[in-house]
Amino acid sequence: MRTLVRNIKELVGVETSPKLRKQGKEMAQLETIKDAYMLIEDGKIKAFGPMSEWDGTAENVVDATGRMVMPSFCDSHTHIVYANSREHEFVDKIRGLSYEEIAKRGGGILNSAKATAAASEEELYDMARQRLDDLMHMGTGAIEIKSGYGLSTESELKLLRVIRRLKENSPMTIKSNFLGAHGIPLEYRGHQEDYVDLVINEMIPKVAAEGLADFIDVFCDQGFFTVADTARILEAGIKYGMRPKIHANEMAVSGGVQVGVKYNAISVDHLEQMGGAEIECLKGSDTMPTILPGCAFFLNLPLSPARRMIEAGLPVAMASDYNPGTSPSGNMQLILSMACIRYRLTPEEAINATTLNTAYAMGVSDEVGSIAVGKKANFYITKPMASYEYMPYAYGENKVERVFLNGVEV
Ligand code: NIG
Ligand code: FE
Repeated sequence: MRTLVRNIKELVGVETSPKLRKQGKEMAQLETIKDAYMLIEDGKIKAFGPMSEWDGTAENVVDATGRMVMPSFCDSHTHIVYANSREHEFVDKIRGLSYEEIAKRGGGILNSAKATAAASEEELYDMARQRLDDLMHMGTGAIEIKSGYGLSTESELKLLRVIRRLKENSPMTIKSNFLGAHGIPLEYRGHQEDYVDLVINEMIPKVAAEGLADFIDVFCDQGFFTVADTARILEAGIKYGMRPKIHANEMAVSGGVQVGVKYNAISVDHLEQMGGAEIECLKGSDTMPTILPGCAFFLNLPLSPARRMIEAGLPVAMASDYNPGTSPSGNMQLILSMACIRYRLTPEEAINATTLNTAYAMGVSDEVGSIAVGKKANFYITKPMASYEYMPYAYGENKVERVFLNGVEV
């Protein structure tokens, strides 16, 4: 079946020679076509160009007069499988407790793990599916989802099976990430290497046996897992074909970036605490530095030096980190705005950071992340607007009118 999107005011994020990621100065390059058409066949982008060049026929016609057509957002870092919200801790933080203090007294990730252990696979699936559908209608077309609120073999497997069901039932492009090393259960306090052993000797082989994870993650940071723990876990995951993709440098300059690059992580995420050595180490690597603006906003953390990284020639991706503790929103339209407002990215850089570069950070930039012939027809049509700069400018407003995934309106 052929679908024609016609009279597009501006078709944004077009690539005639597709790149897997954009870095340094390339991040400012964003090709567009004004007064454009786009043709979709069998769920893929078949052709696009100026309206004046269109002379074919199509069974389905969608009119986009006065509207932008944008590639769907790719959200390369989320934790959407969880049971309970944590607004009580939110209030504790307002009153002065830090994220680390809440974690030390058994709250935070352990609080979520307790509630998540008590929920059935069915309940977790229903909650995560609702979140996923809401995100889809806000413009996200591809998403990475982590486990990590299980922290026992049984519970981690349950979360990963929920992610597998989401993959099977949602039109979104989904990748799964095994984050058994997310928190240290209370009974392992003081001897956390025993928990690391459990992750390595029991969890990873079972996760691999069911083919449940594309990636392996560790929360490598002060107060959580050490660089040595991280190296052991990543080595074990790699043996089973899981590529590293880790949490690093949120609380401290922890060595997380270096250990991630050493094990060829597809991305190192958070990066609120970055020095010159971390930037140097990322140069020339295949690892995508990924900033999580929602987390820094919600926890009032220092801002990752995005401009410095781009000026050093690095690529930068920006994802939502949607989770109940540090970023209870997966709205990528807001992340796009924060990229510009808080991190001083231009709209062009911000769009690349939230589409193509996040697609790279989850290993799917050859199939989504831009408007290119042969890629999945994953895009949204905006509400009427004069220019694409309005997308980051009008923060907090929903600017997405219609969403198409694999060429089908959802
Ligand atoms: O990415 N930093 C580690 N993990 C999550 C937070 C998880 C939680 O607090 O529930 C994050 O911010
Ligand atoms: Fe996270």
